[in-house]
Amino acid sequence: MTGWTTADIPSQHGRLAVITGATGGLGYETALALAGAGAKVVLTGRNDTKGQNAIARIRDQFPNADVSYETLDLASLASVADFAARFAAAHASLDLLVNNAGVMSLPKRQTTADGFEMQLGTNYLSHYALTARLLPLLCRGHQARVVNLSSLAHRTGAINFDDLQSTRSYVPWTAYCQSKLAMLIFAIELQRRSDAAGWGLMSNAAHPGYARTDLIPNGPGTGSLSWRLGRLLQPMMSHSSAEGTLPTLLAATSAQAKAGGYYGPDGFYELKGPPAPAKIMPRAKDATVAARLWDVSATLTGVSFYQPAAAA
Ligand SMILES: NC(=O)c1ccc[n+]([C@@H]2O[C@H](COP(=O)([O-])OP(=O)(O)OC[C@H]3O[C@@H](n4cnc5c(N)ncnc54)[C@H](OP(=O)(O)O)[C@@H]3O)[C@@H](O)[C@H]2O)c1
Repeated sequence: MTGWTTADIPSQHGRLAVITGATGGLGYETALALAGAGAKVVLTGRNDTKGQNAIARIRDQFPNADVSYETLDLASLASVADFAARFAAAHASLDLLVNNAGVMSLPKRQTTADGFEMQLGTNYLSHYALTARLLPLLCRGHQARVVNLSSLAHRTGAINFDDLQSTRSYVPWTAYCQSKLAMLIFAIELQRRSDAAGWGLMSNAAHPGYARTDLIPNGPGTGSLSWRLGRLLQPMMSHSSAEGTLPTLLAATSAQAKAGGYYGPDGFYELKGPPAPAKIMPRAKDATVAARLWDVSATLTGVSFYQPAAAA
């Protein structure tokens, strides 16, 4: 795994991938690299103009890229259901799902169309619902993989079942950490459930360390303390968004990636550097919390994972 780069991505010809939040940042870089390696890539996002721009930019670099854009707003379960239905009508199977989209530390508590706290809803609950809805297609995929974007922030996260939606107390960073811990718990639990049910998936997770993207401008905003701190620390502590995408790409494509694994940069505090296995906090592996979170998520989203007929 030493020095793993995009040059190590195995040929992705014949593979179909869906990436959430692919209109910018890490999602865009993931789409670009996968398309460059030959995958058929469906970029999804909530801003159609940005989506079409992303497609044009990929085609500038790879004129033969097999890429398309679809609307998928993760702040709405109706949009998730609508996308999944359209996708299932157009495709029989899916080989790779990258649950990437996210928002961070929104200064004021916001809610999704379904009334969920925005970070929990966008970063986690909608990805839970999307994965459940696409499960039958993933089960028909070729060595299908699901990659969830987590974060170093999972290390300080906790699942607050007593106030999951931060209604009693909203602390922007705490809500973000909870959502990113939920994504890691979900990745590990999905592998457990796939193994138990014979779905044949590889589910793993990745984090980019500290990558220079629009996450802070889109969240706390320019002028915020995070933004000012970021500008101070960036030269030493961060890497480019393309470099930050390598752990995701390794998890999504490499034969070295392990089922239930977690990948991040291998430098100081996993902030930057080439991809390697990342540190998982014990709370992310707690099977009791994972089972409870799974059940709560099914209730909140109204979507359940079910044994597809073909795998029954
Ligand atoms: N950058 C880092 O250092 C870092 C560190 C740890 C984890 N991460 C994780 O990496 C992932 C990607 O973040 P990034 O750094 O690439 O940030 P980014 O540049 O802000 O990109 C986030 C992407 O998610 C999309 N998105 C946001 N809300 C959405 C919604 N409701 N529906 C659909 N798409 C939505 C954004 O679309 P718009 O363009 O429409 O806003 C954008 O394409 C996130 O899950 C984040 O938590 C990043």
